Amino acid sequence: MTLKMKSTCSWLSILFLVLLPTSSSSPDAEPRHSLKRTQSSLLSSYDFIICGAGTTGLTIADRLSSAFPSKTVLVIEYGELEAAPGVFDPPTKEYTPLDFGAPRASSWDLVSLPSPALNNGTAFLKAGKAVGGSSAINGQFFDRASKHDFDDGWSPLQVSMTDRKVPIWDWKGMEPFYKKSVNYNPPGKDTVDKYGYTWDETAWNENSTSSKVQATMASFLWADHSLIRKAFQNMGIWLRRECMDGNKEGICWTPNAQDAMTGQRSFAGSAHYTEVVANRSNYHLLTGHQVTRVVFPQGLKDGGWGGEVPLVEVRGVGNQGTFNITAAGEVIISAGALHSPAILQRSGIGPKDFLQQLKIPVIVDLPGVGSNLQDHSGPTVEWNYSQPLNIHPMPPDMANSTFLSEAFAAWNQRPARGPYTIAMSMTSIWVPLANITANYTFILDKINDLVSLGDKLSTKPDPKTLESLTAALHLPPSYASSSTLLKGYLAQLSSISSLLANPKSPSLESAFTTGTTLTAVLNHPLSRGTVRLNPSSPLDLPILDYRSASNPIDLDMHLLHTQYLRRTIPALQFLFTDPEAFQSLGFPNNTLPFNLTVTETQPGQQIQSEDAILNWIRSSTVQSFMHPCCTNAMMPLEKGGVVDTHLRVHNAGGRLRVADASIFPLEPSSHLSSLCYAVGEKAADLIIKEWSE
Ligand SMILES: Cc1cc2nc3c(=O)[nH]c(=O)nc-3n(C[C@H](O)[C@H](O)[C@H](O)COP(=O)(O)OP(=O)(O)OC[C@H]3O[C@@H](n4cnc5c(N)ncnc54)[C@H](O)[C@@H]3O)c2cc1C
Ligand SMILES: *[C@@H]1O[C@H](CO)[C@@H](O)[C@H](O)[C@H]1NC(C)=O
Ligand SMILES: *[C@@H]1O[C@H](CO)[C@@H](O)[C@H](O)[C@H]1NC(C)=O
Ligand SMILES: *[C@@H]1O[C@H](CO)[C@@H](O)[C@H](O)[C@H]1NC(C)=O
Ligand SMILES: *[C@@H]1O[C@H](CO)[C@@H](O)[C@H](O)[C@H]1NC(C)=O
Ligand SMILES: *[C@@H]1O[C@H](CO)[C@@H](O)[C@H](O)[C@H]1NC(C)=O
Ligand SMILES: *[C@@H]1O[C@H](CO)[C@@H](O)[C@H](O)[C@H]1NC(C)=O
Ligand SMILES: *[C@@H]1O[C@H](CO)[C@@H](O)[C@H](O)[C@H]1NC(C)=O
Ligand SMILES: *[C@@H]1O[C@H](CO)[C@@H](O)[C@H](O)[C@H]1NC(C)=O
Ligand SMILES: *[C@@H]1O[C@H](CO)[C@@H](O)[C@H](O)[C@H]1NC(C)=O
Ligand SMILES: *[C@@H]1O[C@H](CO)[C@@H](O)[C@H](O)[C@H]1NC(C)=O
Repeated sequence: MTLKMKSTCSWLSILFLVLLPTSSSSPDAEPRHSLKRTQSSLLSSYDFIICGAGTTGLTIADRLSSAFPSKTVLVIEYGELEAAPGVFDPPTKEYTPLDFGAPRASSWDLVSLPSPALNNGTAFLKAGKAVGGSSAINGQFFDRASKHDFDDGWSPLQVSMTDRKVPIWDWKGMEPFYKKSVNYNPPGKDTVDKYGYTWDETAWNENSTSSKVQATMASFLWADHSLIRKAFQNMGIWLRRECMDGNKEGICWTPNAQDAMTGQRSFAGSAHYTEVVANRSNYHLLTGHQVTRVVFPQGLKDGGWGGEVPLVEVRGVGNQGTFNITAAGEVIISAGALHSPAILQRSGIGPKDFLQQLKIPVIVDLPGVGSNLQDHSGPTVEWNYSQPLNIHPMPPDMANSTFLSEAFAAWNQRPARGPYTIAMSMTSIWVPLANITANYTFILDKINDLVSLGDKLSTKPDPKTLESLTAALHLPPSYASSSTLLKGYLAQLSSISSLLANPKSPSLESAFTTGTTLTAVLNHPLSRGTVRLNPSSPLDLPILDYRSASNPIDLDMHLLHTQYLRRTIPALQFLFTDPEAFQSLGFPNNTLPFNLTVTETQPGQQIQSEDAILNWIRSSTVQSFMHPCCTNAMMPLEKGGVVDTHLRVHNAGGRLRVADASIFPLEPSSHLSSLCYAVGEKAADLIIKEWSE
């Protein structure tokens, strides 16, 4: 249980110095020699080219450049090398974890088309546009998926008529990469004594020093944190000692992606680039360049499995100059769930009809490219207190100058301590549908009814059948031109049905750090959206059609989740009528706010009937918690998949892969960054094995 002392602070400060440009450190120790900004500074060819220096892409670049000192690796990134402040870092005085006006690395900002099922509301999204990708700007919440997401969800979807290999995307095949991908820093004794943090070392690779990605429990909690945890317990949700071992239904402690010593954000840009690149003359990074497309100059031979490696065409951001870069080994697209399908579509790899409309020559007809878009969504339950809680520390204490200067001093302690070590959240609940209501099987019945509609799907269905099935299954109209996409969706429904039937597999997430809100996040959405190039400017942001809640079963689940989560409010009220419960949380008797009432303000007490709650859900659901995924799904070709189990794009030569959140077939019941790191580790392992043979 010793705290690992890691001096990642030096690299982060060098990063700041480079940006400020007053570096006094030795040139060898800087990423500068590896950082390229122009065509002329590149080698004539690279063994591996990775498109996108994000969470997954940099993990792969780090591992490949380390495994193969004599092979060259180039990562191409649209954004720049930037400092990446944490969610709550000095000198910020207000704790507003979701304030995107706070200092952050650069981002892409996107708004979806309106979603008719949610009163034409739109999804608002950010995605990282800097070295480190979204890990440079995210909420630092660092949890893992449930093992059932893989065993009931991803793995069965990989089964095909032709490929009956041993499954590699089950929990057994994921756990080692989750472990390898991060170094867990157990909390110090002081914080364990204070907050009762628990964990299980065996869920972590206790000596995984091979990864510089750091997961750390915040050394500080706001005073109302324990109230909500207690209310959750009073609802009958059990406390888990550890949630990272594949079993996460219950109340979880969740670490931050954070350096234990400095308290600073740990992200792919530091952990897989600046901190490792010094001694890797074979690891190059080209920033300020957009991958426009990949090109197969000789076309594709042997049915698309001839081992051809595409050229990568890039465009300097700003000056518009375009050139090709040659890869000798392979090309890996890691531009994230929104941009990776755009790169493939620009390359002529995608839905044939759509590419033809845009007059893009079709290289591989893959209807799955840019289909299957999913995200986490949900409405937010809110309450108020009739009088001030009169407990401390709380975020308003940051306005107290003594408290603030203590917070600064604590941050500068080593290891860092105090409020500035907090990020977006520390606690979350993960609740299976069976725990939400005894009457949950009607959801399964509805899903299974949809699955049986699919029996109408013959091997060669006529277009009319496809069209009517697409409509009946509430899918994007583009599914009507592809029986394989429909088959894949039906297989996904079966997976989701198993997940929801499983009393250990969570359906609802809700996370908390402080305040008076709890969001009911839907883990396993049935609705599907699309990502498509903008026909009038294909190099710009793609067009997102979220179609949130287009499948009405998602609304049924939102309803159940809302009804369940609002029970937190009476559970919270109960604490203020029970001095013993209150005192057991460590608050002194004289601060007990007797007579305090907790009042639901959203949806609000007047909203009780199912129709009224559904109306409220339609108007208040946040459509994106910035977890877009699944737009180049890893599934067999016959199920409308885009990549195979080795992440190779189907029928595209075998030396073109995709690795990022776009390859997930289904949303996991977790936030996405730790899974992106694990997918990066697994992808690197597959590639290293292939090139070592
Ligand atoms: C605001 C926000 C908060 C989040 N909060 C959390 C959280 O608290 N916990 C959590 O686990 N997850 C969170 N997530 C989600 C998680 O961070 C992302 O899902 C994950 O990091 C995505 O990784 P990726 O490898 O798929 O892509 P990214 O990390 O996004 O990397 C893609 C990279 O490719 C680059 N790129 C794109 N197109 C091109 C092109 N054509 N040429 C060159 N480069 C290109 C981009 O600039 C980017 O750097 C959050 C996301 C956001 C945006
Ligand atoms: C959503 O927009 C469409 C198209 O503009 C319109 O026909 C429909 O009535 C709108 N729905 C709602 C609930 O506003
Ligand atoms: C820890 O490292 C040692 C030496 O490299 C290795 O033998 C051992 O298997 C590692 N332990 C775990 C749990 O990975
Ligand atoms: C689910 O219900 C069981 C039985 O009542 C209970 O023991 C368990 O704590 C519940 N789990 C969650 C996550 O609510
Ligand atoms: C780089 O190499 C030097 C000399 O071999 C060594 O002292 C240093 O620790 C290495 N740095 C890293 C980050 O591996
Ligand atoms: C890249 O290569 C392809 C195939 O040889 C060619 O058609 C294209 O014009 C090249 N692009 C640039 C910018 O040179
Ligand atoms: C709490 O909300 C209720 C219902 O909206 C409202 O009547 C009451 O005034 C609010 N109380 C406080 C202290 O804001
Ligand atoms: C301000 O903060 C200090 C240090 O935490 C505390 O002792 C003091 O009581 C606070 N003052 C007020 C007015 O809350
Ligand atoms: C189960 O719940 C749904 C949604 O709340 C409701 O429509 C249905 O009537 C319920 N069924 C039973 C048997 O209670
Ligand atoms: C606090 O209140 C509880 C319940 O009223 C009482 O039993 C206990 O003795 C009190 N403790 C102190 C220190 O006053
Ligand atoms: C609680 O409310 C009652 C009745 O309004 C009042 O007599 C009592 O003093 C209140 N207690 C506290 C601690 O405010």
